Amino acid sequence: MRYATDSQEQGPRHECDESGASWQSLEKRLAWAEYEIEANLDAEGQLTAACAQRVCDSLDENGFVVVPCALSVDEADTGRALIQSVLDDPERRQASFASETDNHHRRRDFCSLPSTPEVLAYSGMVCRRLKPVLSEYCGQSRAVMEITTLTSYLGCSHQYFHHDPYGAISIFVAVDDVDPDQGGTVFVPGTHRYGGGQMKLGGKAYELAELFRIRSNLIVLRNNLRKLFSMRRACHPELAPGEFVDRVFSRRQDDHQPNLLRFLLGKTYQFNLMMLNPLNLWRMFRHRRDLLDFTQVRTTPRKGTVIIYRSDIMHAGADNCSIKPRHLFSLSIARDRVGLAHWQRGYAPHPSLLARGLRFGDLVDI
Ligand SMILES: [Fe+2]
Repeated sequence: MRYATDSQEQGPRHECDESGASWQSLEKRLAWAEYEIEANLDAEGQLTAACAQRVCDSLDENGFVVVPCALSVDEADTGRALIQSVLDDPERRQASFASETDNHHRRRDFCSLPSTPEVLAYSGMVCRRLKPVLSEYCGQSRAVMEITTLTSYLGCSHQYFHHDPYGAISIFVAVDDVDPDQGGTVFVPGTHRYGGGQMKLGGKAYELAELFRIRSNLIVLRNNLRKLFSMRRACHPELAPGEFVDRVFSRRQDDHQPNLLRFLLGKTYQFNLMMLNPLNLWRMFRHRRDLLDFTQVRTTPRKGTVIIYRSDIMHAGADNCSIKPRHLFSLSIARDRVGLAHWQRGYAPHPSLLARGLRFGDLVDI
């Protein structure tokens, strides 16, 4: 099988626009290799025990891990073709868990996939490849919570930093190379929850992480606003009719847009004015040096790379600043029993997935 080589140097990160300088000041560039464990497969096409152990160790330590060469070029191409077939389907079911406004204006196209034989075969192949890792976290009877495609286009917003609902392992499959200017997912290592995790950083780990999230999201808000005003001024990329108002002033719920009215009223859940209260501002100032312990790591995976993350790690989908769309195939598997309301609020299961009651064990046996 052909694998995409990962020896290509990760060049200097392109900044999206003039606002990118603030990212540079906040985002330390650490050695990319620190979060990478290259796939090593056994005769059955699964990660070897030694490789799986290293992946699990990194997943436990950092909350996410990047696994280059997990899929061959041909397998990635199959995933890319699957995503294209979804995008070409006018009846596709767009997901509601990300920015619905971006979906509406075709800045993003996040779709929940139905349980067709093709979708299940591809998902099963990915799960079998990663089974030695996934089995450490997800029992055979645990629910497959969603199977999705995530496509992001030029002009989309940068998501606010957030935690997905606790209790899942999520997987991104890079079906194409993701270049730095295409964005990619940004993770904050070590911000996942586990027993005793709050005892780090002098017993203030969770409090400090939340302060870091608020501070990061203030920069996200500013960058998204500057970008939208720049798009309106330069007509590049061109805004659709009503898009500017929808993204800046809309009263409709969308937690990943500036939505200033809702922001001021405290109705944007991920980030709103109430979070910038005097107490939090004082804490951010007081702990400004402690906050340097947190790092944003922007993933720009090569084709065939798989990213595995614990759902509760702090992360955000970055904005795509390239004319080249960014495509990811994604699935999430429960680590525990999941209540339906919790499931549907944080994930986007296709009705056929819910109706079938697909389990992790079903998927690896397909
Ligand atoms: Fe998320």
